[in-house]
Amino acid sequence: MRNHYIHIKALLILFVSIIQNCSIISALSQKCSIHNAQDCSQLKPLANFWNVPTKDVPKLLHLEEKLITIDSILQPLLNGSYFGGTYIDIKVGQININTIDPSKEYEVRNSSKLRNYLNYLNFKVANNTLFQLNSTFNQIFKFSQNFTTTNCMFSIEPKDNNVVVYLNKDDPKNNRFIEKIENLDPKPIIKPFPEEVENEIIFNSSTLIEKRQLYLYVVGGSKIAAFFENRVKTCSAGFWVKKDDEDYVATAGHCARNIPPIPTFYLINRNYLIGKMEDYVFERNDVGFISKDGDEITLKPILRNKFYMEPTQYLLYYIVDSSDITSRGIHVCKSGYATGFTCGEVLAFDTVYKFDSGKIVNNAITVQLIGNSGDSGGSLYRYHDGDNPSLFVDAVGLYIGGTFNVGAAEPIDKIFDFGYDLVTLLD
Ligand SMILES: *[C@@H]1O[C@H](CO)[C@@H](O)[C@H](O)[C@H]1NC(C)=O
Ligand SMILES: *[C@@H]1O[C@H](CO)[C@@H](O)[C@H](O)[C@H]1NC(C)=O
Ligand SMILES: *[C@@H]1O[C@H](CO)[C@@H](O)[C@H](O)[C@H]1NC(C)=O
Ligand SMILES: *[C@@H]1O[C@H](CO)[C@@H](O)[C@H](O)[C@H]1NC(C)=O
Ligand SMILES: *[C@@H]1O[C@H](CO)[C@@H](O)[C@H](O)[C@H]1NC(C)=O
Ligand SMILES: *[C@@H]1O[C@H](CO)[C@@H](O)[C@H](O)[C@H]1NC(C)=O
Repeated sequence: MRNHYIHIKALLILFVSIIQNCSIISALSQKCSIHNAQDCSQLKPLANFWNVPTKDVPKLLHLEEKLITIDSILQPLLNGSYFGGTYIDIKVGQININTIDPSKEYEVRNSSKLRNYLNYLNFKVANNTLFQLNSTFNQIFKFSQNFTTTNCMFSIEPKDNNVVVYLNKDDPKNNRFIEKIENLDPKPIIKPFPEEVENEIIFNSSTLIEKRQLYLYVVGGSKIAAFFENRVKTCSAGFWVKKDDEDYVATAGHCARNIPPIPTFYLINRNYLIGKMEDYVFERNDVGFISKDGDEITLKPILRNKFYMEPTQYLLYYIVDSSDITSRGIHVCKSGYATGFTCGEVLAFDTVYKFDSGKIVNNAITVQLIGNSGDSGGSLYRYHDGDNPSLFVDAVGLYIGGTFNVGAAEPIDKIFDFGYDLVTLLD
């Protein structure tokens, strides 16, 4: 699952970056850690979401890692006929277990595997079993294939103990679909979801004038653009990946939608070629790989974005690993050029995301965080529990769509499934 490429020049990059970026010097010397959490300013996006001081974040990250481990032991012990899924509440420091038949609680508590973790379990009375919710989910999936809708997203969200469908209720195009799903038992919850906005503008010579860039790095969150006819479509870069020793930028596949083949991407504007995106899909999976053809640009295993807004514009992180998302309620963050670094939580996985075009992506992740259309393809990451969590992060996926405070992301595994390896700073 974990395919990494060890980058030989890792140290060189680190030192080049130190020279270029004072905030990294301070981040390295201050050594934000669970034992010495004096300056963890780079953890600000997550501290904001958790609403705690930055110095408390390393401790909470450590607790979160422990809860994820316990949750992975717990989940297989829960029979979907009596339980309705789990989710982590990091602030309380417990795993909530939706319990429909409380007489089954004892059996779970009596399991020898959980003996040392009982204080971390919170059995919560709930109405819907996982089997019931799965049935509603499967039916909604069928309806979504048969009825036209504007863009929508749905998944089983244990926090609501229900299937949650994000959809614009006011658009008449969705009426028949809504009628169908509202008759299901259990009845899903419908939450508002604004209609998809293609990040595509008509350009003229004046919109193309941009300040010359000093460093031509393509990093997680860089603005990338494809030009066609008199239009430009923008997305965000996700991660530096490799296949057969060639370099690529992984991003969302739908960034190539409506662009005549072969889509060619540039960094920021037409002056700086990245390369062609020959390998992409935006049905079932939403991933695309831009080959590094341009000589002027350099790829880096770094997250950064030029979001000119305090306090995120000086933040910079190094990709050191990748990890799978296996629990709900855990933190997740993204880097995208439209809304910068933002953090939130995982609401669900096995998510279905349906674009306006009718194309359906499944096995995605529902994330509750701020994002917008230009962030498509941007990096989804988690702060790394261990040495210096304020500097080193894990790649966990690609942001693919959404708005306001909820969106969808592709898990990092899909990149590996397409035969690409992640390039990290260290291995
Ligand atoms: C779950 O409970 C149902 C109903 O009692 C039972 O039929 C099924 O075998 C159980 N599943 C597992 C995996 O134990
Ligand atoms: C609790 O588990 C032990 C073995 O771990 C078993 O011997 C015992 O019967 C169980 N108690 C109940 C009430 O299921
Ligand atoms: C369960 O369903 C009943 C009836 O619909 C409702 O009143 C109650 O609030 C629900 N309980 C939970 C925990 O959602
Ligand atoms: C949910 O339904 C799908 C499709 O029928 C099935 O493959 C899966 O095993 C089910 N999962 C649970 C937890 O019931
Ligand atoms: C979807 O459409 C097909 C063919 O039109 C039909 O056979 C099937 O019953 C429909 N499914 C649902 C869930 O409406
Ligand atoms: C070019 O685009 C800008 C911004 O959209 C607009 O204000 C301007 O009028 C356009 N110029 C021409 C010549 O179309």
